[in-house]
Amino acid sequence: MWRLLGLTRPLAGVMALSVICGVAGHCCAILIPVLAVAEALSLAGVTAGAWPALSPGACAAVLAGLGVLRGVLHYLEQTCNHYIAFKLLAQVRSQVFASLRRLSPAKLAGADKGSIISTVTADIELLEVFFAHTVSPVGIATLTCAVMVRLIGGLAWQLGVVAAVGYLLVGVAVPLAVSRACAPAGVASRTQAAALSTYVLDGLRGLAEVLQFGAAATRLDGLDERSEGLAQTQRRLAAGASTGAAVTQALVTVLSLTTLVVGAALWGASSIDAPSAVLATVLQLSSFGPVIALANLGGGLQGTLASARRVIDLLDEEPQVEEVLEGDDIAFEGAAMKNVSFAYDEERVLDNVSLSVPVGGIVGITGASGSGKSTLCRLLMRFWDVTRGQVSISAQRIDTIRTDRLRELESLVEQDTYLFHGSIKDNLLIARPDASQGQLEEACRAASVHDFIMSLPRGYDTPVGELGDTLSGGERQRLGLARAFLHDAPFLILDEPTSNLDALNEGVILRSLDEQRGRRTVLVVSHRASTMAVADASLSMDRGRMS
Ligand SMILES: Nc1ncnc2c1ncn2[C@@H]1O[C@H](COP(=O)(O)OP(=O)(O)O)[C@@H](O)[C@H]1O
Ligand SMILES: [Mg+2]
Repeated sequence: MWRLLGLTRPLAGVMALSVICGVAGHCCAILIPVLAVAEALSLAGVTAGAWPALSPGACAAVLAGLGVLRGVLHYLEQTCNHYIAFKLLAQVRSQVFASLRRLSPAKLAGADKGSIISTVTADIELLEVFFAHTVSPVGIATLTCAVMVRLIGGLAWQLGVVAAVGYLLVGVAVPLAVSRACAPAGVASRTQAAALSTYVLDGLRGLAEVLQFGAAATRLDGLDERSEGLAQTQRRLAAGASTGAAVTQALVTVLSLTTLVVGAALWGASSIDAPSAVLATVLQLSSFGPVIALANLGGGLQGTLASARRVIDLLDEEPQVEEVLEGDDIAFEGAAMKNVSFAYDEERVLDNVSLSVPVGGIVGITGASGSGKSTLCRLLMRFWDVTRGQVSISAQRIDTIRTDRLRELESLVEQDTYLFHGSIKDNLLIARPDASQGQLEEACRAASVHDFIMSLPRGYDTPVGELGDTLSGGERQRLGLARAFLHDAPFLILDEPTSNLDALNEGVILRSLDEQRGRRTVLVVSHRASTMAVADASLSMDRGRMS
């Protein structure tokens, strides 16, 4: 929580303005009934201590003025709060993305993709509640209560004590109790909501399978079960919040009565005059606004803090590979692996693998599924650091090469190509933003996808649907290759580049690889013998070992 508060430091001025507006606004709101009662008392012929006597007309004008002022101040306060909140949310988002960039691709390849998505979307959003509706209300309530205790205490110290105890009960004890009571349900509701949306998303993605295998009824039952569970938890939460609200209301009434009783007793003992006792009661009665706002926060606070925890954990997470920021622009002079062993977790995936890719050569690797071929490609990209042995590019250890230079030297095409929402052209330009149309077409010809693109109604400007679902696996794969050709890195790593292609398209691609021989160095992984035909040397992998 202190970390979050620390973020607000640069905006302390706005925060102070918000608190001042809030306090002033609440004071206006409190003054309205107090002034009205004082006026009524003076009309009845009793003047209340130091309160000024106004003519009814002037009093009405002042009351109206206070009402308007209250509105303006409240507006200002909310504006400041939301200004702070959204400014900070933008800042936190960019920090989270910076740290995801630092952590990826290892982090994104891991199992907790779902939880990252919920942190990036839901958790950050929840911080709005903290920044806009928690920090300054606490300041406002504290200050307003201090002013009120001072005012009421000025009339009689005993009444001041009653007021202070009252504010503490309503503004601190009740929110803490509610927050503690609601904590388990709060956590459960977030987990259940996340599970429900995963289930729905899962079902949507697999809709074809669900229908084909007649599993719709089972899926629906699963859906009902999950939404019923969530609804139950939410009912518990709502019950907790309503109990809190009821307790708050009861406390407010009891405390106001206590003030009245204590005031009456003091008046009986001639410690204060009757109007002061009445005014103290009205002051007390009308000044619970800011603490009630705090009491209402109670239910949500635990959830907000839990979200904040997850965001901060992500910001603090240590990356698998440390980015190298300094180093020379080395040229590509071949790649090598020496006695490399690697494990994602416990289980060893690569065992003492050595490999040499001479500059200008085409090296092929075959091997059964699960033998560690993709892992080897990713280690050459330094998505992870090796457990033992070393990977080197141009005879320099890969973990000492400047990371952005490494990305310029190497280009990896994996089996699945991700296409962004946008036109085909946009998707290709990611690899080289300043490429000309001629260069685009050349790359697409080499990847055997130019003719396909030209057959589309809008050619290169054809939009690819969400997730590229409108394209077949083979078309996506060829676009991925075109991207890599366009990127024009001297070292191309192709992980099963032709797995989704028919013999004809495979032939075109192999021929263009062959044509680029000498200009580019290629490592190609495939389980197809036909793809290996283009390689100068081919190696085979078996359960993490090179043979
Ligand atoms: N991100 C990962 N985290 C943990 N284990 C992984 C990960 N990626 C792959 N593996 C495991 O590593 C082994 C080798 O996988 P992979 O390199 O993809 O083999 P191949 O490409 O030859 O099919 C497999 O047993 C796989 O389950
Ligand atoms: Mg693989």
